[in-house]
Amino acid sequence: MRNLIDINLLEDGIARKLLQTAKFYKSSGRGLLEGAPLLGRTLAMIFEKPSTRTRISFEVAMTELGGSAIYLDAKSMQMGRGESIADTAKVLGRYLDGIMIRTSKHETLIEMAAHSKIPVINGLTDISHPCQVFADIMTFEEKLGDIENKIVAWIGDGNNMANSWIHASKVFNFKLRLACPNGRLPNIHIIQWAKDNSVDIEIMDDPLKACKDSDAICTDTWVSMGDEGTINPEKIFNNFQVNEKLFKVASDNAIFMHCLPAHRGQEVTEEIIDGPRSVVWDEAENRLHVQKAILSWAIADKLI
Ligand code: CP
Ligand code: NVA
Repeated sequence: MRNLIDINLLEDGIARKLLQTAKFYKSSGRGLLEGAPLLGRTLAMIFEKPSTRTRISFEVAMTELGGSAIYLDAKSMQMGRGESIADTAKVLGRYLDGIMIRTSKHETLIEMAAHSKIPVINGLTDISHPCQVFADIMTFEEKLGDIENKIVAWIGDGNNMANSWIHASKVFNFKLRLACPNGRLPNIHIIQWAKDNSVDIEIMDDPLKACKDSDAICTDTWVSMGDEGTINPEKIFNNFQVNEKLFKVASDNAIFMHCLPAHRGQEVTEEIIDGPRSVVWDEAENRLHVQKAILSWAIADKLI
């Protein structure tokens, strides 16, 4: 089954081919793609959490590939009042060609995939956000060339995005340094997986050390969806703002990356996110091209 659960779970070579396909789709321009590879195919997009980019980029991607997408708020489905994930997955497979799901609990995604006869795509969970990190790597390479052996610094929360960057550092072979406050480290099982697989990551609590000579400085919101009210962000992340001071120690061409939505004055200064080093709008755009690649692979087994 061609599921996208996490970047590290893809068969060897698929991740790189997905990026090549995304690049091809980007170069093909906007509008209905010649040959409409997903003509007559339908994707369900199930959301347990809000979304702007993921929802819209998947929906437009389906349209431009010749298919269509159905937006489903999980609360308004029978799932929202207790119908099991397994039963939902079995029913959806009778109507659809693919499911993209954004869930509060990663286990919901895993259970959906376990019972689904059609491909399931991770549209963000509490543990990971692979589609975004694919778009980020595509963006990095557009700006700075092959990411292999480059240095990426992650500053702030060891959240779903940080975890997917760890997965990507093995698959795309770059150095990843994560500066996270005590108590906000990436997922322990993913750290263990990185150790077991000799992945080139370093975890520390000093943002300056993490950014030294780095090619990209990445961050994300201090408070992820679902974490509201559980932490005091100003206290925990006080020392973890991406600002000019961090870019002074980074490489001369270093870029700023953020998956968005952003909070100016918290995880990043306005000067950085709206300044010349920022590539955040390209990251957002590339979600569309990456989504097309993921969908044409998952639903039609088509890669360039
Ligand atoms: N970056 C991202 O996934 O954005 P949305 O939450 O708007 O989908
Ligand atoms: N870490 C953020 C990413 C949003 C796209 C969250 O989970 O809210």
